[in-house]
Amino acid sequence: MIQITRTTQPKEKPDQHALGFGKYYTDHMLIIDYTAGQGWHDARIVPFGPLPLHPAAVVLHYGMEIFEGLKAYRRPDGRVQLFRPIENVRRMNNSARRLSLPTMDESLGLEALTTFVELEQGWVPSLPGTSLYLRPFLYASEPNLALHAIQEATYVLIASPVASYFSGGLTPVSIMIEDEDVRAVRGGTGEAKCGGNYAAATRAGDRAEAKGYSQVLWLDGVERKYIEEVGAMNVMFKIAGEVVTPKLTGSILPGITRKSAIELLKSQGVQVSERLISAQELLEAAANGALEEAWGIGTAAIISPIGSLSYQGQDYAIHGGKIGPVAQKLYDDLSGIQWGLKEDTMGWTVPIPAQA
Ligand code: PLP
Ligand code: COI
Repeated sequence: MIQITRTTQPKEKPDQHALGFGKYYTDHMLIIDYTAGQGWHDARIVPFGPLPLHPAAVVLHYGMEIFEGLKAYRRPDGRVQLFRPIENVRRMNNSARRLSLPTMDESLGLEALTTFVELEQGWVPSLPGTSLYLRPFLYASEPNLALHAIQEATYVLIASPVASYFSGGLTPVSIMIEDEDVRAVRGGTGEAKCGGNYAAATRAGDRAEAKGYSQVLWLDGVERKYIEEVGAMNVMFKIAGEVVTPKLTGSILPGITRKSAIELLKSQGVQVSERLISAQELLEAAANGALEEAWGIGTAAIISPIGSLSYQGQDYAIHGGKIGPVAQKLYDDLSGIQWGLKEDTMGWTVPIPAQA
């Protein structure tokens, strides 16, 4: 049972044309406390506001924090729906296991998402490409400078009405292959969605931006040879007629959009291969024309076409710097299902009850 305390001061909703990403927050937040003795308890929705945090909270010192990201979409009939929320609940539990944070019953994780969106549904925008971005996160709130098994943690869910992640929408981006920093290593935390991964990835992203690129293409941390992800997204290529994407080796985040794209493409009879792809193979394919398309794929942007790749100062254009047909169709199909513009033949969407 989730206790609801409604705000007495509802905020004015922002202009839907100026949402950006992560600038505005809804009226409420959902909090669940964990203690080793009681497990998860006191699930409650309260007015949005600052969180109390002890200066010795483990998260501030040892970085024990994980998060998720998913969206609520407004359909043409005005109803609101989620896209595969159970996948986010499961991935959050996997991340929790990796960081020694407490896991949560899937039913509670799902109830938190659906109950919160039901209450905040007035905040789901309706302009094309907009949605309500949901950000559940979980951290070790326990005050303790000693490192040992966690006794206290906090789960919080906040939501932000957003436009597409990149202001350019489907405009192809230029990407630099990163050969200095690595995002993650096998055996590390790469397949967990933890804040530390993003902290470690920021320097390379900033350097790429300073050189005029949008983001970096990450290589594996062991051999620095195989392609892993692009920025904070999974990556896909069309090489010699086949869609290929790096296989999940342990250092790559198992994206839900990636998984959905693979399932959708396969259901349409498109050949998809999950395998190791070396930077050398990719650059050779770019040079001889076999690299037909490339795109990043994730919840925030859905599809972000890659218009050019740069490695050690040399630039390679992809599909003439324009979005290719496979990336475009994937965007149309996935976004069509997410916003309820196309029939959901895969059974992925979860409708939220309209407010009484
Ligand atoms: N890879 C990283 C590092 C991410 O942060 C994300 C975004 O959540 C993804 C991939 C894509 O995952 P999803 O499709 O579940 O959003
Ligand atoms: C994604 O949803 O694709 C992301 O990478 C989320 C980002 C804001 C961390």
